[in-house]
Amino acid sequence: MIVYFAPMEGLTDGILRRTHQRLFGSVDVYGLPFHKLTQSVGLTTREKRDIAPEENRGLRVLPQALTRDPGQLAAWLALVAELGYPCAELNLGCPSPTVTRRGRGSGLLRDLPALRCFFDRLFADPLPMPLSVKTRIGYESPEEWPELAALLAAYPFAHVTIHVRTTREQYTGGIHPEAFDLALRRGLPHPVYNGDLRTPEDVQALLARCPRTEAVMIGRGLLADPALARRLRGGPEASEAELRAWYTALYEGWRERFHATLALGRIKKLMEWPAGDSIRRKRLLRRAESIEQCIDAVLDEQQAREG
Ligand SMILES: Cc1cc2nc3c(=O)[nH]c(=O)nc-3n(C[C@H](O)[C@H](O)[C@H](O)COP(=O)(O)O)c2cc1C
Repeated sequence: MIVYFAPMEGLTDGILRRTHQRLFGSVDVYGLPFHKLTQSVGLTTREKRDIAPEENRGLRVLPQALTRDPGQLAAWLALVAELGYPCAELNLGCPSPTVTRRGRGSGLLRDLPALRCFFDRLFADPLPMPLSVKTRIGYESPEEWPELAALLAAYPFAHVTIHVRTTREQYTGGIHPEAFDLALRRGLPHPVYNGDLRTPEDVQALLARCPRTEAVMIGRGLLADPALARRLRGGPEASEAELRAWYTALYEGWRERFHATLALGRIKKLMEWPAGDSIRRKRLLRRAESIEQCIDAVLDEQQAREG
């Protein structure tokens, strides 16, 4: 099975990707957080650094763009092809209101005829490189999925990653694994399952339900348990020493690149996100003033939870 590390803006930068591969590995492809395309297709300094080949040496990565303009997307793909990457992705999944309000990300799912026009114009001429798409299953309701899936199946995407939620459901609302069954039945090209895979048992349940699953994308599950992909391949759980090394290396990398305060803020975000509604962890993290205190907070809370 192919395992993708989900792109997570503000967290999964080159430092995290390289550190993860060095300490845990077992991930096939690391998604790059989206580039927000503009008229000039000029990338920001941060985006340029993130996509630079030296930032991703030894990793297989999938660059991603957020746009509703086919010309912008084609120009960006030419740039990505020049850098030597084999595939790139269009984001139809971002649910942030600042993005969807402008009809980008999953905002494009609100109007399927407009999305069809966008794809018609995009694929009218050959693209400079293969393009995949990451989507949600609808904007308002999962009932939109059959029509959206049929639309996606009509265009030559390299693969389709499906976060099995609607835009309205953001990251924690209802989840619809049955939408993935439909993707397989409708013949979407190489569907990748995404959404709430936290443990090897979750992946086994998915495989029991959809034995033809070829690939999964995991985000918060890998933040909570960086050894999850390794465990999916039959490898060991992360030891306490490995977890301490992981958090410390991330902190050191971010401190060198940014600043101690910012680095600590990032570590706290990384530790908080996957904990969902753990009030205890949030309280401990809020009080933590050093990387050591953050690590102790996470490990203590984890032990308390596991009883
Ligand atoms: C903080 C954060 C930032 C994210 N940034 C991106 C992004 O840049 N591009 C993208 O396609 N998805 C982004 N996502 C969505 C994740 O890639 C993934 O689809 C989502 O977290 C569901 O997968 P999971 O349940 O395995 O975490 C982001 C999610 C989070 C929590």
